[in-house]
Amino acid sequence: MSPPDQDRVIQRTATIEERVDAVQAALEAHGLDPSKAVEELGHLAQERWIPENGARIVARAWVDPEFRERLLANGRDAVAELGFSLPKHHRHLVVLENTAKVQNVICCTQCSCTAYTLIGLPPDWYKDLEYRARVVREARTVLKETGLDLPQDVEIRVWDTTADTRYMVLPEQPPHTVGWPEEKLAAVVTRDSMIGVTRL
Ligand SMILES: [Fe+2]
Repeated sequence: MSPPDQDRVIQRTATIEERVDAVQAALEAHGLDPSKAVEELGHLAQERWIPENGARIVARAWVDPEFRERLLANGRDAVAELGFSLPKHHRHLVVLENTAKVQNVICCTQCSCTAYTLIGLPPDWYKDLEYRARVVREARTVLKETGLDLPQDVEIRVWDTTADTRYMVLPEQPPHTVGWPEEKLAAVVTRDSMIGVTRL
């Protein structure tokens, strides 16, 4: 038998289907059911990890100053009061309060990390290489391009997410909503306002 043609071996790249099959076979060999896990993840992402969770937290912080203090002091513990949890590796939840003079913006320069159990999975633009590179260097310009033209006297603080420290922005309450019931307040809170790229 002649030895395999090395050049041909190197050039041959597995198709996506072949790679998926290989991963599936490896998982099954370890007694895991990948299709079930994917289905479960899909369910969690669509039904459980949604921005409405963060919106409830924001609304509570707007109506309850003591909760807001606890939220800013220790996000993980405070959201647990409302029944929300984060994965174990999200060791810290840091909640950043926006004010008339401070705009906090979160990003992940390395990849796409967010506090996804609270504010939902990251949108495509959040994962975009150009956004990730530019928002840390020229946040004011990037925000202006996407529709948030902040006055010069508003300080912009950009926070880079890490594997174990997740951020969530507490947007400023719109003045016309003062006195609204909590449920109605939650309905005005958007995902992008909790990322910090919009104001309400
Ligand atoms: Fe990331």
